[in-house]
Amino acid sequence: MDWLIEKIAELLANSKHAVVFTGAGISAESGIPTFRGKNGLWKRFDPEEVASIRGFMRNPKAFWNFARELILKTKAKPNAGHYAIAELEKMGIVKAVITQNIDMLHQKAGSKRVLELHGSLKFVDCLDCGKTYRWDDLVDRIKRGEVACDECGSLYLKPRIVFFGEALPKEVLSEAIEEAKRSDVFIVVGSSLQVYPAASIPFIAKDSGAKLVMINADPTDKDRLFDIVLHGKAGEVLPKIVDKVKEII
Ligand code: APR
Ligand code: ZN
Repeated sequence: MDWLIEKIAELLANSKHAVVFTGAGISAESGIPTFRGKNGLWKRFDPEEVASIRGFMRNPKAFWNFARELILKTKAKPNAGHYAIAELEKMGIVKAVITQNIDMLHQKAGSKRVLELHGSLKFVDCLDCGKTYRWDDLVDRIKRGEVACDECGSLYLKPRIVFFGEALPKEVLSEAIEEAKRSDVFIVVGSSLQVYPAASIPFIAKDSGAKLVMINADPTDKDRLFDIVLHGKAGEVLPKIVDKVKEII
């Protein structure tokens, strides 16, 4: 493992435009369940019912029942993996974080340029009267299972996250593609790369000549497309990489 850490650190130390792309795995050590793998959320919930736009429009209560799991995401704290990435940005090495996560932990860890492909849990809009809420102000009601609009009583309060069947936010997606094209080192951390179009972004970087690095706890079916693959926990591996980069530069 150490020689892999050394190789990744060398790539970062000599990079001009490194970009990090993250998935649920980077937040696992913050106590947030991932979607796939051993005790993934999609083993306990049907994504079609609780996380698709069709399911939401059919029955918003199913999403809000699932939302109790999402409260964890907004109460969680960044872990050493998030802080390591923020430090690499402060060192001028990482130019952007592209994340599929909606937990805002990269920002809480100090990362400045964070492109949230799937939105975030920060705000919730009433689809009937347009009133906007902050997620944090709804947490008690979510726990009680009584989520309805104060103004008009609607149950269609929708967080600004991308549901299955919805398009990704256009500007964020095009900025993420631009970052991938400019990158010379592109590091994927904690993603099974199963969901598109997000999962195509690392390969846009590769097509543009970037060195592709995978840091993930388990093997993925995309590993063979990467230049370097390190199987390990983000919270353990990333701080070691940062320490090695500091030795080199
Ligand atoms: N460190 C590194 N990787 C980890 C860790 C860890 N501590 N714990 C788990 N992993 C890895 C798992 O091995 C898994 O491959 O993180 C990956 C998480 O994969 P998913 O659960 O599929 O999450 P993600 O790739 O982010 O899912 C993408 O799917 O359901 C949608 O919108 C949802 O944004 C999500 C998208
Ligand atoms: Zn309303």
